[in-house]
Amino acid sequence: MFETLSPAPPDPILGLGESFLADNRPGKINLSIGVFKDEQGQTPVLNCVKLAEQQLLESERTKGYLGIDGLADFNRLATELMLGGIVPPQQVAVCQTPGGTGALRVAADFLAKSLAPSRVWCSAPTWPNHGPIFESAGHEVKSYRYLSADRRTLDLEGMFDDLQQACPGDVVCLHACCHNPSGIDPTAQQWAAIAEQTASRKLMPLIDFAYQGFGDGLVEDQVGIRAMAQKHAEFLLCGSFSKNFGLYSERVGTLMVAVPQVDSANSVASRIKLAVRSNYSNPPRHGAAVVATVLSDPELRRQWEDELTGMRQRIHRMRSEFVAETKRIGCATDFSFLMDQRGMFSFSGLTPLQVDWLRTEKAIYIVGSGRINVAGITPQNLETLAAAVSEALSV
Ligand code: LMR
Repeated sequence: MFETLSPAPPDPILGLGESFLADNRPGKINLSIGVFKDEQGQTPVLNCVKLAEQQLLESERTKGYLGIDGLADFNRLATELMLGGIVPPQQVAVCQTPGGTGALRVAADFLAKSLAPSRVWCSAPTWPNHGPIFESAGHEVKSYRYLSADRRTLDLEGMFDDLQQACPGDVVCLHACCHNPSGIDPTAQQWAAIAEQTASRKLMPLIDFAYQGFGDGLVEDQVGIRAMAQKHAEFLLCGSFSKNFGLYSERVGTLMVAVPQVDSANSVASRIKLAVRSNYSNPPRHGAAVVATVLSDPELRRQWEDELTGMRQRIHRMRSEFVAETKRIGCATDFSFLMDQRGMFSFSGLTPLQVDWLRTEKAIYIVGSGRINVAGITPQNLETLAAAVSEALSV
């Protein structure tokens, strides 16, 4: 039967990673997948993670299964980190998930199984995996405008116009901070207006919080969640520790559902478990144990916050050095707009044709939409990259 199957297209992000690995040209540059790189171009294990792993090596006594909803300490500490001071913990149903992607999929399954498949509104553009995740769970995916025509600012009016077509009960997927792929986030005032709009239309917010700490800081990056919580007694939050703990391959994420009553938190939690059990049964322990160890130890936590600040500042520095270098060489485009964007990603403005040219001619890998992973820029590749981008602009 499988003979009739044609190959599926490669994933727009992870597929590029595979091509990059297979490329043996020296000096190749990978600005596609969203992983942090240090000044040497490496994706390091954080020191606080190494120390926590040493502690775990000594103290771990079992590899027995976790509960369906994961490690209790992790769930408590993650809730404190992401929703502390915003929603009382007894009003949050929480579940440890395999990464932020796992959180989104469990959220999608929970909504489809416990309520009914609904329409999910995603920003245009959004992370290319959002649509397939919601569709896999049976939801219909719609999109709302997010960026102005030049793709350098937020189009709030366009967003509100499009959301006028949403019906009560529809889900609206929002990026809490460091919008992926554009790096363009709403201001505090714009968040308040978005919350007003989604609440008045009785939409259900599903907030993707994959980059806490990569925008302006751990607390600063909660600005949108705070605004939504003021207008919505119920919302879903999907968090990830891939980026801010550098635990990509350990798959550590969390799904939180905020509700107005403790009773509903229990019912929701039981429904989430149902969705998990028939999917992957229960989550892996190691990464969550690392996060719980770091967050519960004041010294490790301080170290983590310092390391996170270091990652954030490095990305910011690379933004400004790229802008300065492209100016210095007289590039036709002024890239100063990159300085207003937050997190790992930016829209470079490069067209699909230019992106293709950079890959084939210069071994520089960028996602087809023109999204660049700013964290992939290093002092070593900066000049080559700026010159190649400048050349690509005339292609
Ligand atoms: C990305 O957008 O590059 C990351 O979130 C990694 C992924 O899974 O796509």
